[in-house]
Amino acid sequence: MVLKKCSAIVLLGVSFSIGSCLIAKAQTSLFSAEAKQQAEALLKQMTLDEKLGQLNESSGLVMPGLATEKPDDLIEKGGVGSILWQMNVKEINRLQHIAVEKSRLHIPILFGFDVIHGYRTVFPVPLAMASSWDPSVEEQAQHLAAQDARAAGIEWTFTPMVDIARDARWGRIVEGAGEDPVLGSAMAQAQVRGFQGTRIGPDSVLVCVKHFAGYGAADGGRDYDSSYVPEELLRNVYLKPFHAAVQAGAGGFMSAYMDLNDVPASGNHWLLTDVLRKDWGFQGIVLSDAFAVGNLVTHGYARDGEDAAYKAINAGLNMDMASLTYTHNLLKVVKEGKVSEAYIDQMVLPILEAKYDLGLFTHPYVDESKVDTVLNRPEGLALERKLAGRSMVLLRNEGRVLPLSKGLKKIAVIGPLADAAHDVEGGWTVEGLFGGGSKSHPVTVINGIKNKLAADAQITLVTGPQPSKVYLGMLDQVTGTKPIPPPTPQETADWIAKAKAAAEDADVVVAVLGETANMSGEAASRATLNLPGIQEQMLEAVVATGKPVVLVLENGRPLDISWASEHVPAILEAWYPGTEGGNAVADVLFGGVNPGGKLPVSWPREAGAEPLYYNHTLTHDPEDRPSFKSRYWDIASKPLYPFGYGLSYSTFKFANLRLSKNSMSVSDTNEVSVDVTNTGSVSGDAVAQIYIHQRYGSASRPVRELKGFERIALQPGETKTLKFPLGTDQLQYWNPQSRGWVVEPTEFDVWAGEDSTASLHAEFTTIP
Ligand code: NOJ
Repeated sequence: MVLKKCSAIVLLGVSFSIGSCLIAKAQTSLFSAEAKQQAEALLKQMTLDEKLGQLNESSGLVMPGLATEKPDDLIEKGGVGSILWQMNVKEINRLQHIAVEKSRLHIPILFGFDVIHGYRTVFPVPLAMASSWDPSVEEQAQHLAAQDARAAGIEWTFTPMVDIARDARWGRIVEGAGEDPVLGSAMAQAQVRGFQGTRIGPDSVLVCVKHFAGYGAADGGRDYDSSYVPEELLRNVYLKPFHAAVQAGAGGFMSAYMDLNDVPASGNHWLLTDVLRKDWGFQGIVLSDAFAVGNLVTHGYARDGEDAAYKAINAGLNMDMASLTYTHNLLKVVKEGKVSEAYIDQMVLPILEAKYDLGLFTHPYVDESKVDTVLNRPEGLALERKLAGRSMVLLRNEGRVLPLSKGLKKIAVIGPLADAAHDVEGGWTVEGLFGGGSKSHPVTVINGIKNKLAADAQITLVTGPQPSKVYLGMLDQVTGTKPIPPPTPQETADWIAKAKAAAEDADVVVAVLGETANMSGEAASRATLNLPGIQEQMLEAVVATGKPVVLVLENGRPLDISWASEHVPAILEAWYPGTEGGNAVADVLFGGVNPGGKLPVSWPREAGAEPLYYNHTLTHDPEDRPSFKSRYWDIASKPLYPFGYGLSYSTFKFANLRLSKNSMSVSDTNEVSVDVTNTGSVSGDAVAQIYIHQRYGSASRPVRELKGFERIALQPGETKTLKFPLGTDQLQYWNPQSRGWVVEPTEFDVWAGEDSTASLHAEFTTIP
């Protein structure tokens, strides 16, 4: 099915033709014809109770403070369609045996979990993988994660998180691809391909694209808080990666927790039915976030559980995650005639189709003898190290401090993250969280450095105190992490003296600073972006020794590093680089890998500047003009580092920006070409970025918008010519006055270069 909506409008007395159409390609046959037939046949045999059972995703784990029930009896009655938070393969098989052997229709359970960035082999966190500006990084990582997950009995992952994040205070910025809809869409699609393959089949892991929608726009950057996002901003920015994921064939979606414009996302008919199913043609499963259906009462949206169940199912939400609100109330809702059984059939159908296509009816059990062999594959670690290297961003390299020499004899390594094995992998590690403890062997930065240097090199470690004493996330309940008290003044002085002494005795200092893994992620928003604890003091102390200092950051969000950006000669953003992270950091520090990552976010100077994003509109003169300033009085309004920024050990020149047309019809496609040359002395990767600006029209448009990018490898002296289309897909936007997609007759600026401040410029006009 193809939806096509074209129109002409008259606005403000000016008439112009609309050269664009909304072409919403439906997911033609998301599931196979065979699965559809089998699912429909099975549905005919099911009682209403059994149908409703498929809409329940039960918790496989009893979490402290959260209501859950042991699902055994419910499974036997056909009351469980899916189970989450159960990673013990023996238990998975036990529960599956109940479903397949004891329930009347033998319908297997779909096991789901958050396989966010790897299973036992933990890949860089998603924000890091987005920093690669190379979608194949995500695709390769998630493909391996899918194989691992299937081998361990997980058939549904609550990934990718495609929420646009314009605010570094928001803890979950670490789980997404940053602030840009085009980069975010590319990363979303790559993850869908990585997990599901070209079609949902017996080797796929079904995705669950989340959190639909607007979750990243939480007020004040506070996780779970309300979002107010007007439709034009939703359509032009926040919804883009979700739509891209649907177009890539995503089989699952997760509704968000919060109110979107005062209507909770999990009971929002406009989102879950009008946009997702009708506009975009989504045919898969919509799952609520955990307990979100029950929480419709907390929101003051539903009167009670029955009303919550009605509002969620009526909005288009197929499956209730963990709240048991459907289990306890839906039968009554149907019996009272508020929703028909035929509608329930529609809600159940994709769940059964997914189970058929995933091969659960033929192979419901995990082969326990093979799990460890698959999860311990050495090729996983080799891939992880390579992808981590591609994800790092070099922020500063004054005096070319980097790369370091492998002949170094004395090196001081300071900071609480230098040897913190858990933190190098970041949050959401499957086995670390619910799997009974991490079974991977993460390489910390100090160990990565040791692996690079000669055995007689003197490597001194001064960790300083652990900074993890600020607010700890909800998931710490599960891992049992406890707050750590701050150091006393005496302890602080002692640590600083130790760091200073180590620096004085060394040829180079590597400071590994940032946030512990539990300081970002769910329920871990921060009001400040400083380096927590006494890290900044330790850094200032070692810089004061005059020794060359390299700052390696491990963190889940941009931090306030204003002081470091002026005083520390080299800064490498490693994010949480994963199991082989320490080796990958050392690869970059010692020049084995030339960094090519770029920022997927605008880097703020401090928390007060958030939300900060490059693709804003211009509502007054910018701060470099001599009139009233549109921004801050006390700090520069520009980011510390712009979106798209990152250095290399090489240098690149962008030249010959040209367009195939200086003027074209609104329905035509222009082609941008640009030559990129490696002007340095070592081979390296450049990321060509194309930005546009629509000068005028029936709405204000952002000062710049990314419209194309490509990461390329270049030998010294080598030039490559890159081409990018600028057609309807790139030029159209959701117009707030006509409430539709338009390409307008107007003028466009085009820039090409290495980041969002690129100056190489061209222009063209569009005519009706
Ligand atoms: C809550 C989180 O918001 C969501 O991202 C996650 O998938 C579910 N819990 C399940 O763990």
